[in-house]
Amino acid sequence: MPGQETEPKRDVPVFVQTAIEVMPEDTWEQVGEDEARMAYEMTLRNELSGGTPVVREFEAEYRKYIGTDFCLTTCNGSAALYSAYFGMGVGPGDELICPSYTWICTIGPALLLGAKPVFCEVDPRTLMMDPADVEKRITDKTAAIVPVHLWGNVCDMDPIMEIGRKHGIPVIEDCSHAHGAEYKGKKVGSIGDVGAFSLQGSKPVSSGEGGALVTDNEECFNRACLVGQANRWGLDLPGDRYEELQPLGLGMKLRSHPLGIGIALVQLRKLDDLNASRAAFIQEVEEGLSDIECLDPLYVYPGAVRAGFYAFPLIYHPEKCGGLSTDEFRQRCEQAGLKCGDGWYPLLHLLPLFANGFDVFTRGRGPLGKGYPGYKAGDLPVTEEVRERLVFPPVLSKPKPGAAEAYIEAFGRAAAG
Ligand SMILES: Cc1ncc(COP(=O)(O)O)c(C=O)c1O
Repeated sequence: MPGQETEPKRDVPVFVQTAIEVMPEDTWEQVGEDEARMAYEMTLRNELSGGTPVVREFEAEYRKYIGTDFCLTTCNGSAALYSAYFGMGVGPGDELICPSYTWICTIGPALLLGAKPVFCEVDPRTLMMDPADVEKRITDKTAAIVPVHLWGNVCDMDPIMEIGRKHGIPVIEDCSHAHGAEYKGKKVGSIGDVGAFSLQGSKPVSSGEGGALVTDNEECFNRACLVGQANRWGLDLPGDRYEELQPLGLGMKLRSHPLGIGIALVQLRKLDDLNASRAAFIQEVEEGLSDIECLDPLYVYPGAVRAGFYAFPLIYHPEKCGGLSTDEFRQRCEQAGLKCGDGWYPLLHLLPLFANGFDVFTRGRGPLGKGYPGYKAGDLPVTEEVRERLVFPPVLSKPKPGAAEAYIEAFGRAAAG
């Protein structure tokens, strides 16, 4: 790069994508010259704030890729979810149904709007929200159903949408792990009323820190613009309903950083290659598990195509491995040369915040204050049980030859003891 005296530092791991640690078997470079050039050129053009041409280009490309009418970038995925909730009119006293097994930022933003999470069970074969259990938890306060396409697997969207439509409740998809995943020919994010993506540094499309909201719902898009895009240059609201409030909106900024979005634009153009390469690797490992009785790949619903692959969970069955605990099985994997993670995310209903409640707005106000019943162990038995049986080998994005065989061999040795 002109004017640069030293080579870019390469002694720090630049490959942070999903790997538990930097994996020597992987050859995918998460960020490289293309991303650096984009940021460099944008800086020279002073494209550093607001809805710059590159931000608008990303939004146009992303909405086309996902298949929605609108896309809005935000400063992170949490802000995209906050904007989506606000966009759909979530507010004080509302309830939102979401799985307990997800990252806290799925539902944290709703707390700040005064809404209360109601945690539902997952299907233990898929780790996706269980539609039958969702329906049981609907009340007259339910303001949204929030399916999470966790780890890149895809929720069973037909029954979820049917429940939402039947009860007149919007569906808000958290797609933070599943960029490019599909359900019956539609990309996730385009199936519910609105979808939210994280573009954080370890995501398959990354802006370092960033997020994106996608929707066909004009009102939702307009409200999302009002709540977080104060004075954004180049933001055209469709329709004139809120014209008198623009461009200042509600005076709050959750806007994306253009340099990050420039990097994400480069990455978006590589997404299909990344997904194809990860999918091939994961398929090869999963096929190799057919001889290893105690490990099951995640079940994928008919018509679903996984993508993103933020992580690679396998379901362990101790009774098929002489009663060996999951921890002991993971230790055996490590001894066989394959370090695997555990369930990674804490169950939300057992965190002190949601188990005991918290005075969010002080003086007993807020969704987890006075009268909040809380949760305890045993309240979501299916989720609690399966969370303990997860084994996460590292995702490899572009593995060296032989990597999948090495995984299978390590699992085989662990299972055989
Ligand atoms: C499932 C899920 N939802 C939401 C988020 C929030 O995204 P961000 O970290 O970009 O705010 C994340 C982040 O990892 C996530 O994993």
